[in-house]
Amino acid sequence: MTETAHNRTMFDRISPRYDLLNRLLSFGLDLRWRNRAVAMLGDLHGKTALDLCCGSGDFIAILFKKYRANINLIGVDFARRMLDIGRLRFMAAPHASIILCQGDALFIPCGDRTIDAVTIGFGIRNIDDKPAALKEIHRVLRAGGRLAIVEPSIPKNPLWRTLFSFYFGRVMPFVGGVISGDHGAYQYLHDSVAAFPDPDDFVALMRSAGFANASAIPQTLSTAMIYFAEKA
Ligand SMILES: C[S@@+](CC[C@H](N)C(=O)[O-])C[C@H]1O[C@@H](n2cnc3c(N)ncnc32)[C@H](O)[C@@H]1O
Repeated sequence: MTETAHNRTMFDRISPRYDLLNRLLSFGLDLRWRNRAVAMLGDLHGKTALDLCCGSGDFIAILFKKYRANINLIGVDFARRMLDIGRLRFMAAPHASIILCQGDALFIPCGDRTIDAVTIGFGIRNIDDKPAALKEIHRVLRAGGRLAIVEPSIPKNPLWRTLFSFYFGRVMPFVGGVISGDHGAYQYLHDSVAAFPDPDDFVALMRSAGFANASAIPQTLSTAMIYFAEKA
């Protein structure tokens, strides 16, 4: 099985408990980070936003709550079961323009310059070829379009770093493993955070993909980052 197929089946497996664990393991802070990321995208009334690696649609839910029917929302994820949970979630909003489709972040099923804003929550670290994914995002964004990415981050402060490493390395795989029944998946999540580039290096990757105004904005004692960039 390729690494991509392995990741896809892993996310399919953990999908039933994924949202609960996300909230629990981040102490609900992920919602705060997501709301801040959405605020950075500017006014999206009448515009089109893409949530890449959308999972069950947490970012889409926040965008929908903010703009109701005044926005076109597209979610792309390669794990079918994650999307199924998202579709159930948005069934009660039939007047909304929400499309959830199965697809790979490296081949985004959208035309060039068709998207006004892109969000990614806890997704880009799962993609091996990050430069290629960033170039794909750049391709689909219109000029002036914005990108906001939320990712956990290992704090530089030694005390917070030790606590964070204990929590991410020990507590999270244990709790995640018990609740989801898939210890390996939560161990993988820890390993993928540890392997993620330093914030400065990731900002450099965004610039190399052609983005302007790229920056990393620390959240909650630098335990997470919002990566922001614009297409010039
Ligand atoms: C940790 S989950 C995050 C889900 C959601 N974005 C959130 O904020 O809760 C990562 C998601 O990325 C998706 N994913 C990983 N690699 C992908 C790729 N190459 N293309 C599309 N989706 C991908 C997985 O299927 C999974 O749903």
